[in-house]
Amino acid sequence: MGHNKFKRYTVTAALPYTNGPVHIGHLAGVYIPADIYVRYLRSKGRDVIFVCGSDEHGVPITLKARKEGIQPQQVVDKYHKIIGDSFRDFGVSFNIYHRTSSETHHDTAAGFFRTLYDKGVFNEEETEQYFDEKAGQFLADRYIIGTCPNCGNEEAYGDQCEKCGTSLSPTELINPHSTLSGAQPVLKKTRNWFLPLDKMQPQIEAYIDSHKEWRANVYGQCKSWLSGGLHPRAMTRDLDWGVKVPVEGADGKVLYVWFEAPIGYISGTKDLCDPDLSAEKKSEYYLNEALKPTDSWEKYWYAEDTKLVHFIGKDNIVFHCIIFPAILMAHEQYHLPDNVPANEFLNLEGDKISTSRNWAVWLHEYLQDFPNKQDVLRYVLTATAPETKDNDFTWKDFQARNNNELVAIFGNFVNRVLVLSHKYFDGKVLMGSELTSVDRGVLEELKEYPARIASSIEQYRFREALGEFMNLARLGNKYLADAEPWKLIKTDEERVKTILNIGLQITSNLAILAQALLPFSSDKLFQMLNQDKLEWDKAGTADLLPIGHQLNEASLLFEKIEDEAVEAQIKKLMDSKNANELASRKAEDSKPNISFDQFAAMDIRVGTILAAEKVAKTKKLLKLQIDTGIDQRTIVSGIAEYFEPENIIGKQVSVLINLEPREIKGILSQGMILMAENSDGNLSFVAPPAGMENGSVIR
Ligand code: 2FM
Ligand code: ZN
Repeated sequence: MGHNKFKRYTVTAALPYTNGPVHIGHLAGVYIPADIYVRYLRSKGRDVIFVCGSDEHGVPITLKARKEGIQPQQVVDKYHKIIGDSFRDFGVSFNIYHRTSSETHHDTAAGFFRTLYDKGVFNEEETEQYFDEKAGQFLADRYIIGTCPNCGNEEAYGDQCEKCGTSLSPTELINPHSTLSGAQPVLKKTRNWFLPLDKMQPQIEAYIDSHKEWRANVYGQCKSWLSGGLHPRAMTRDLDWGVKVPVEGADGKVLYVWFEAPIGYISGTKDLCDPDLSAEKKSEYYLNEALKPTDSWEKYWYAEDTKLVHFIGKDNIVFHCIIFPAILMAHEQYHLPDNVPANEFLNLEGDKISTSRNWAVWLHEYLQDFPNKQDVLRYVLTATAPETKDNDFTWKDFQARNNNELVAIFGNFVNRVLVLSHKYFDGKVLMGSELTSVDRGVLEELKEYPARIASSIEQYRFREALGEFMNLARLGNKYLADAEPWKLIKTDEERVKTILNIGLQITSNLAILAQALLPFSSDKLFQMLNQDKLEWDKAGTADLLPIGHQLNEASLLFEKIEDEAVEAQIKKLMDSKNANELASRKAEDSKPNISFDQFAAMDIRVGTILAAEKVAKTKKLLKLQIDTGIDQRTIVSGIAEYFEPENIIGKQVSVLINLEPREIKGILSQGMILMAENSDGNLSFVAPPAGMENGSVIR
């Protein structure tokens, strides 16, 4: 990787909607891969900024506020902090975690729109848009759902089908209805500003075609949209929460969230590079002062020698690869995205992660249950990252990877090296007899790893990079197991000095390479080695620790995770699944109408159970003797699995007495006892109110 045409890097991670906390799906899909990439670049000494922030506009926010009966601003204030804290606690090393509700963003986004407006980029058009008469509001984006014309998904949003990824407009939905009131919307005229993507198609096509190196899923999706032909897309909305449209006659309108949210990357960069940003804002935006940008914001966005990389999930591909570049092209001053590594989705225990169904592992809860185990989750999510296809997270796999890989290989190796160094040589790095051919072989292999891992990372293959990292730990583990210094110490101390020296040098190499992949472990290793952080390019050699160097105390890098811990997590998920099922249970659909005469034909009376016994050789049937007030008769009823005969004698019940008599198991049944059944299938008698004598009529 000798020459590099890029002088600096602008790396962004999708701005999460600020309508709930973040979960493992977010981490695996976007933030961990982005963080690995950025940490790697930093350790290569590259000039890089890593920008993210809260996406605080858009329908997901207003819907949440509506549901909770609070203001949108309260929703975003609450979750900006929860999400920002989670990212910080997991070591996602943004330079800044900004906000789209900030003044800088409102100014930047509005200014951007105004520039395009003044250039005459937009078509101003009056069109018919869906309107919810009950709610008194236009319906766009997630305010309206219906059936996707492309894949038949019945819950496609007004701007996108999340199932097949197609970008939609509300009028394309089949059977649209309002998510506010459920009402069938009506069409109403309104004026909006459209980006003429149709006219820009050749430009966009040329841009996509110049990026055949993009991931196959990303490039493929782009090509398929282009082949369908692009349509003009409204960049404004008739809503009140968002960035006001900065032109005359646009009262009551805001910028489309997918117009302004990606501009949030630019707004964040502006505040990051602003030397006068107040201390208060710095803390609100989690600004990392240790990572100072070296250039102006313009350099990070305009310069041709800046590499712009957007990390996103697959549902964001069209917005980042087509719409945002089109907006940047129309502006004419900006550098276009160089890569958009999008991941597929992570499932959880075989089921789609869902905020509304609470089927998720929330980051803030994970850290309560597994304090200081950030790297375990980072490891598992990278090892199973949904890079090329959807993947599944299971707690059993989490446990197995921790116990069999992190503890048994990486942890075991460094722990043995450090503990033996303390035990035999008081924690000093020494060198004894000359290198053997085995030693030289190991060192030859060691040399290859930094470049190999770097190449995987530069190609956004983070799973592969982690696999290679673990292979280096395996190499060390095997070297030690074969050399058996714990046996040799009795006979050949000089040889043991050399073995442990090599073990320690490998450990130091692991500390360097872990900076990108497992940053918490890297810090811990450097601390135990009593060594300052080393840059990536130092790795690959066996002279990182000088002879005579004193190590610090050793402690365990990873601990075994017991069955109880993961069983508790599985139980937590099952509990939320059960709670959901209960809450979402619906009553049976109603039957077709009947006439009054049909109803009046039924003769239902109050009766009392005089005797009850099981019908021989059946599981379900009870033979009941009933006093109907008119007579005493026998009724066979299918309730034996729910009631003990002796418990129901004397009970008053409702009886349909003019049902055609039927022979059941040789017994003539003359009528039917009315029962109520809930959605769980539990039965109870339809008991008449107390004090009704037998024979009273029910109608
Ligand atoms: O899908 C989402 O969660 C969006 N909030 C991502 C926005 S990315 C960027 F464009 F702001
Ligand atoms: Zn679809």
